[in-house]
Amino acid sequence: MVTYNGLNFEPCITRDEIQQIVQRVADQISADYAGRTPHFICMLNGAVFFFTDLIRALSIDCTISFMRLSSYEGTETTGKIKEVIPLQVDIRDRDIIVVEDIVDTGVTLHYLRERLQAMQPRSLRMASLLFKPAKLQHEDARPEYYGREIPEAFVIGYGLDLDGMARNLPEIYSLKQ
Ligand code: IMP
Repeated sequence: MVTYNGLNFEPCITRDEIQQIVQRVADQISADYAGRTPHFICMLNGAVFFFTDLIRALSIDCTISFMRLSSYEGTETTGKIKEVIPLQVDIRDRDIIVVEDIVDTGVTLHYLRERLQAMQPRSLRMASLLFKPAKLQHEDARPEYYGREIPEAFVIGYGLDLDGMARNLPEIYSLKQ
């Protein structure tokens, strides 16, 4: 068990399972994009570990860039999105795969889907390590690729944070009820 901000978290997804999940998603993407060179957009900060593991597990070529939005404070979403680091590359006519850590309400991916679609990519798909379908508010935020569905509890580790902490935990922990 680990404790942050007085909250207790119990083990949820082990290192081994994370590795298997990453390889499975990478294999799916490599098969779907065989012969193409997709451009991956890493959603900072949370997706950084999933992103670097994922792209190194691909068997196809790719290019990468980074974006950072913010919408969360503590364990609850504020619903408002700020583009803290905007996209710095031209994605017109490219095959784009956005890499996220977790989809919860879907507000973030819904925003991104519209924002990036307006830049006229050749194709646009979303890949998320985790997916919490219980609170999904936008059907278009359902990621085409995801590692694992999880129940509604707040999770930390492997990039996922609680007020900036716990990102460097190598395993994923979930809030003890
Ligand atoms: P959404 O817009 O509600 O889908 O939330 C997306 C973002 O909220 C993710 O990229 C995370 O940064 C954050 N988030 C959602 N659920 C969790 C969680 O359980 N732990 C840590 N961060 C979370």
